Amino acid sequence: MASFLVTNSGPLKGKVTINGAKNSVLPIMAASLLSDGIITLEDVPLLEDVNVMCRLLEHFGICLKWDNKTLYIDNSQIKPKPAPYELVRKMRASFLIMGPILTRFGNVKISLPGGCAIGTRPIDLHLKGLAAIGADITLGHGYIEARAQRLVGSRIYLDFPSVGATENIIMAAALADGLTIIENAAEEPEIIDLANFINAMGGRVRGAGTDTIKIEGVGRLSGCTHTIIPDRIEAGTFMVAAAITGGDIILTNVISDHLRPVEAKLKEAGIQIESVEEGIRVYKNGPLNTLDLKTLPYPGFPTDMQAQMMALMCTLPGTSMITETVFENRYMHVSELKRLGAKIKIEGRSAIIEGVDRLQGAQVKSTDLRAGAALLLAGMFADGTTEVSDIHHIDRGYERIDEKLRSLGANIKRLN
Ligand code: EPZ
Repeated sequence: MASFLVTNSGPLKGKVTINGAKNSVLPIMAASLLSDGIITLEDVPLLEDVNVMCRLLEHFGICLKWDNKTLYIDNSQIKPKPAPYELVRKMRASFLIMGPILTRFGNVKISLPGGCAIGTRPIDLHLKGLAAIGADITLGHGYIEARAQRLVGSRIYLDFPSVGATENIIMAAALADGLTIIENAAEEPEIIDLANFINAMGGRVRGAGTDTIKIEGVGRLSGCTHTIIPDRIEAGTFMVAAAITGGDIILTNVISDHLRPVEAKLKEAGIQIESVEEGIRVYKNGPLNTLDLKTLPYPGFPTDMQAQMMALMCTLPGTSMITETVFENRYMHVSELKRLGAKIKIEGRSAIIEGVDRLQGAQVKSTDLRAGAALLLAGMFADGTTEVSDIHHIDRGYERIDEKLRSLGANIKRLN
């Protein structure tokens, strides 16, 4: 298993370019199945999860061509068939192909998604939404099958503003008959990017970014060219890297609006964040304060930044607190941070963090994508050397994170 060796890095300095958003490109690649034309996606991040989605599209007979970070998708030869367990279990986002294939071909069969370290990750809201617009859903032998002569628009209320369920329903409704209204929809920026992509193909999605989204079904969707929005979670991760090392870095290719919740909490901790010509400058110029934060659906504080903020809190003098309200088991990084000397106590959905002056390097394990990133951040603060193993989790969602951190002065080495 590959690992990263990280040693105390001193203040990070310099400029880093943020890549396209993982959680935008994955649903958009699934939505390309709706089109009968050629799709060109620009600023696609080179991630393991994108490779898995590519393999899934190719499984359906789709032709893909890369030119640096531009991906050309031609699904004129598409042949729907069951999506296999070995691909779906690798990545929960595989489940996003259900809506597009169902609405285009009237039948989709997909292995039940594997769970993952951050909880059971059910799909009941996805299935409830698809059933509401006419899908007949059956479960059996580890597979889910959905059939529908025609999908017919309907009004759907989501018990929880699930990002994936919102995306699956938008995609299914895009080619359904009539109007679909999703209430209590997810409002994440990635939903807006997906809606813009579908509308660029000739779709009619309105209200993305609010809690009520209206989708007017159309007869067909053509090809288009679309640039993926910057990854707000990669940006947030580098913002914390500047904070935890007391550094001064500039991030380019960011959309400040998407960073508001993270920016607000880092400023509350005493970090300086300024807009500059190339993007945003993040730096520390004085003592930091403790923090209390609660993760919430957008525009609340993003759960995908929870582990990274916990790493920072481990170094803030005093008591900080985190409450994770989105996932039921997203504290797998706590025991690993404690191996570095962090003082953290979990009480129900909350974690109480006592800041310490120093952390000590140790061998730790990435349990999931963002936990792995948090351990890298803590390793740059800790005395001595930290070995972070199982870094395939990190490579799923961060493009060349070691090279980017090294370019900012971090002492980090990849061991294969
Ligand atoms: C997306 O996952 C992201 N992944 C996750 O990012 C992110 O953490 C999550 O949204 C929340 O923002 C992608 O976009 C590929 P949800 P998703 O459906 O769609 C429950 C990362 O680190 N739920 O909003 O799976 C679920 O159990 C990843 O980049 C149901 O109960 O998230 C969870 O507790 C991790 N029933 C909560 O909702 C359902 O049918 C949020 O899940 C669906 C979800």
